[in-house]
Order: sequence, then C-alpha cells, then structure tokens
Amino acid sequence: MNTKTTVIPEEALKRQFAFCDRVSAYWHEKGITPGAYVETYGCQQNEADSEKIRGYLTQCGYRMMPQAEGADVVVMNTCAIREHAEQRVFGNLGALTHTKRRHPEQKIFLCGCMAGQSVVTDRIRKSYPHVDGVFSTHHLWQFPEILWNVLSQGRRQFYITDEPGSIAEGIPQNRDGILKSWVSIMYGCNNFCTYCIVPYVRGRERSRRKEDILAECRELIEKGCREITLLGQNVNSYGKDLYDNFDFADLLSEIADIPGDFWIRFMTSHPRDASRKLFDTMAASPKIAKQLHLPFQSGSSRVLKAMNRHYDREKYLEAVNYAKSVMPGLVLTSDVIVGFPGETEAEFEETVSLIEQVRYDALFTFIFSPRPGTPAADMADPTPKEEKNRRFDRLCAVQNAISEEIHAGYVGKTLRCLIDGRDKDMLTARTEGGRLVRLPGDDDLIGTYQEVTATGSTTWSLTGTLSHP
Ligand code: SAH
Ligand code: SF4
Ligand code: F3S
Repeated sequence: MNTKTTVIPEEALKRQFAFCDRVSAYWHEKGITPGAYVETYGCQQNEADSEKIRGYLTQCGYRMMPQAEGADVVVMNTCAIREHAEQRVFGNLGALTHTKRRHPEQKIFLCGCMAGQSVVTDRIRKSYPHVDGVFSTHHLWQFPEILWNVLSQGRRQFYITDEPGSIAEGIPQNRDGILKSWVSIMYGCNNFCTYCIVPYVRGRERSRRKEDILAECRELIEKGCREITLLGQNVNSYGKDLYDNFDFADLLSEIADIPGDFWIRFMTSHPRDASRKLFDTMAASPKIAKQLHLPFQSGSSRVLKAMNRHYDREKYLEAVNYAKSVMPGLVLTSDVIVGFPGETEAEFEETVSLIEQVRYDALFTFIFSPRPGTPAADMADPTPKEEKNRRFDRLCAVQNAISEEIHAGYVGKTLRCLIDGRDKDMLTARTEGGRLVRLPGDDDLIGTYQEVTATGSTTWSLTGTLSHP
C-alpha cells in the first residue's frame, strides 16, 4: 500500500447540498427557472465529471441547455492533454464574451484539467475577466459553494490549490441515458510518463471503495444499464492504495457476478501492470467484453524508456500474445505517440512494425505535444514538424489498411450486438468488441441484445441486418 486515500466526509458533502438549496432559493425568489450549459473536452473521465456537474446544477434548480447562448451558467470542463485541446478551449472561451454581452447575468466557469495548471489560471486572471470562477478537478465536489459565492458576492472565485486529491461519494450524477454508463473506479495517476500532464492536474492515484463501486453498478443494472465502462487512468493498479489482497481482476469478477445481462468494459489499462490474472479473468467471464485498450505509445524500447513507461517492446508483445491466446477474437485498440523528442526514423519504423505485428482493430494516433512542466517538454527535439507529420500520415495509412482488412473479415459473420441508438435512418449497435454496426430496424429494439449478420464494412464500422428479424 502506498498512500491512504482520503474520502470527503459526509458532513462536508451535506454542506454542499445546503449551497444547492441556497442557489435554488435565489432563483425561486426571482421567479426564474435558470438555464445551464456544460461543455466537455477530453476523455471519458471528463465526461463522467460533467455528469456530476450537471447533477449538481440540476440540484441547484437549473435546466440543461444545448448551447451557451442565453444560459445563466456556462461550465467549460477542459482537457490539457495536448496544446491543440487547450487552444480550442481558449478560442471558445473568447467567444463567450459575446454571449455574456448579450446576457450580462451569465456566469462562466472553467474547470477540468486545464484549471490544474497555474500557467492557465494566471492567463485567465489577466486576460479573461469574463470568467467568473475557476476550479481544478480536486475541487469539483465544491462546485455548489463556488457557484453560490459567485452569485452572492459578485466576485471571481479561484479554487485551484494543488492537492494530492480525495474521493467524494454521493455527488448527484445526470447521466446521458442509462443504457451505457461510465463508472469511475479510481482517479489520478502515479505513473509520470515523461510526456504527460495528467499526474500534475489530476493528482495521485486513489481508488474508490469496492463496496461503493459494486453498489453503483448494481443500481445501474437494476435500472436497465446494459453496458458498464469502468474508468481510470490506469485501472490495473486499482486498489493498491486500499487493499492488500484485492486487485482490479478481483473487482471485475465481483461486478460480473451481479445478476443480469450486461457487458463490462474498462479503460485504460497500462501494459506495465497488465497481468495474466487480468486476462484469465476476462477470458473466464462472458460478461466481460473481449475488448482491450492497451496503449503501447511506441514500438521502440529506447523511446519507451525515455517515456518512463516501465515496459519494453518484448514485454508488451508478450502481454498481447498471452491476451490473444486466452481470448481468441479479442478486439485490441491502442494509443501511440509519433515524434517523441529524439525519436529516430529507425525507431519510428519499430512502431510501424509493431502495428503490423499486433494488427490492432483501431488505433488512436497522436503527434507529440510538449506540455510545460513535464520532463519531455525540456528534451531536445530536433525532428522538424513536417517530418513528424509525414510519420503520422504513414502510420495512419498502415493502420487504416489493417482496420479495413479486419472489418472486411466480419462480413458474413453473425455477431451479438447491443442496439444502442439511432443515427438518421439506421439503428446503431456495438459488437462485444466495441465495433460500430449500422443496421435497419425499429426503435423498440434499442436497449436489447440482438444477433446481427454483418453485410458490409468500412475502415471504421460495419453494416448489418438482424439475423432473426
Ligand atoms: N492513462 C492512459 C492515457 C491517457 S491520455 C494511458 O496511460 O494509457 C490518452 C493518450 O494521449 C495517451 O495514451 C497518449 O497516447 C496521448 N498523450 C498523452 N500526452 C500526450 C502528449 N504530450 N502529446 C501527445 N500525445 C499525448
Ligand atoms: Fe499519463 Fe502515463 Fe498516467 Fe497515462 S499512465 S495518464 S499516459 S502519466
Ligand atoms: Fe484530458 Fe484530463 Fe482526460 S488532460 S485526456 S481530460 S484526464
């Protein structure tokens, strides 16, 4: 065990609900039903956090709106992973000066991962006076208090102190439909990959208690959830801060034991801690989807060392080969970074060869983006931008050809799918491996599992028909 995880006391959370009541009374006195708009950037962790922000806002009496125009509260839940993500936020934040001019009562908040960086908060203080409140991920649980302070004091609020992080249970959550639900099982990250900002903005790794997670999953399934995605930056180290003899694989088994028909997915797994026990557990349970997102980042062991990833090419391949051997038909996806400082052409080719060897179903490819404050931002980076773009394009071309071939291999096969929605005139569905399928059919099938015969394919998705219409 390393750190002791701090849980926010129930009393402190009750105090936040009292702030919700005050905000609600504030609007009630004015005879107004206020509107709120929450914009989310970044990963599923942020999506899950936004569900909590919406939950709090609903508790405060706000109705959700689809845009910032006319909203009484706008919350920008931001991502700091790459420079491009930050630029988009600053651009959109600038545009809010206009919505605020048209609706001067509008209160604007910035939160999420960007709010954990002092370079960002300094810039907001100086150049974005229309932003009323800023709070880092550690302070999300205090949002009602921050909102109330802005409304009642008319002064800007900054809740950005750097903390190791805690866990708050019991924040209301406005889920975007229940059929497919996120469940955060842990927060933060201890890995400090040299390129990555996440450990700095989300604090140390901390796990939720297993009984809290199980209760949440049980409730979701009872209410009709058919797909649970467990979230964490590094789910394989779940429980290390809480238990001596209970790990992520044990948690998966216990969730799979909950009665009901559902799939469990999870992300992200760090290859460093991806154990045979985990893969054996996945293989043993029909409820654990045979899908694995296992980011490798680079095919070169030298680069992996410079990235501080704690595995090399051989260890990664060994893990993947074992996973494939116990789960035939496993759908594998990954993240990769092109143009890490000092990456040579030969090292880049090692990444290409790893992709060709593993044959991923899909890949998320990124060009290295220096993040101020991380070690890699200070490393010598002589490769020109054009060369990095060329590597990026080559990698995408190699992967697209593989994805297309793998998808074509599905045609003619019958796949069990969860019908999850509609896109124009077609139903949308997901295979157990998480592949997207479009098929004709009626809305009353949404929320059910169906046998679907794949009839066509593209790089990104499949088309199909019901096997037993
Ligand atoms: N915790 C996850 C990843 C979270 S970030 C893991 O360790 O696998 C999602 C992806 O963004 C990473 O896998 C990485 O490929 C990419 N990424 C992170 N920092 C980056 C940076 N500075 N530049 C480019 N890509 C980056
Ligand atoms: Fe970032 Fe590495 Fe942590 Fe993933 S494991 S969040 S890449 S530091
Ligand atoms: Fe971005 Fe924060 Fe997720 S930096 S990728 S939103 S953890």
